[in-house]
Amino acid sequence: MDVFNDYYGYPVRLAFDSTPFSINPRHVWVICHMDGQWLLTNHKKRGLEFPGGKVEHGETPEAAAIREVKEETGATVRSLTFLGQYEVTLPSERIVKNIYAADVQALSSRNSYYETNGPVKIAELPEAIEKDPSFSFIMKDLVLRKTLDYLKRKQLF
Ligand code: GTP
Repeated sequence: MDVFNDYYGYPVRLAFDSTPFSINPRHVWVICHMDGQWLLTNHKKRGLEFPGGKVEHGETPEAAAIREVKEETGATVRSLTFLGQYEVTLPSERIVKNIYAADVQALSSRNSYYETNGPVKIAELPEAIEKDPSFSFIMKDLVLRKTLDYLKRKQLF
């Protein structure tokens, strides 16, 4: 398990291949890949980030992951793979998120992308992403770096 602080200094615990923080996580985050590129969404307040959000009442985390990708990018998930889970401890609450990798296809245009401005495809994530103001803070801690390392080891994309 990895332990570090997020962009704002809040404690984060991260684990791959297991769900040590909750069997019923309320959040999901989906590393999307399409035709050799990363597929992000442009959140209206936070900036560029992989899609994700809250699991709705009665919904499985996998269904939430597929729904969030569709809502925030217009893409259809071809295959979804569970990668791991992380926990952020905020002063008032504890957030637990499942991380998935998704191979996606068919970007269809939508009238609304909810809290986002819709899909953005990029070939490479910037080396100094934490200094890039166009990216969301959720892309700026070790969750992303370690997840990308894990993906490389698994040779998923
Ligand atoms: P909405 O309710 O969807 O509008 O989003 P929200 O940001 O108000 O609420 P959410 O429950 O998603 O997140 C609450 C807080 O948790 C955020 O303001 C962040 O401080 C923190 N948080 C949420 N997701 C992450 C994440 O992936 N990484 C980190 N480090 N913090 C997160």
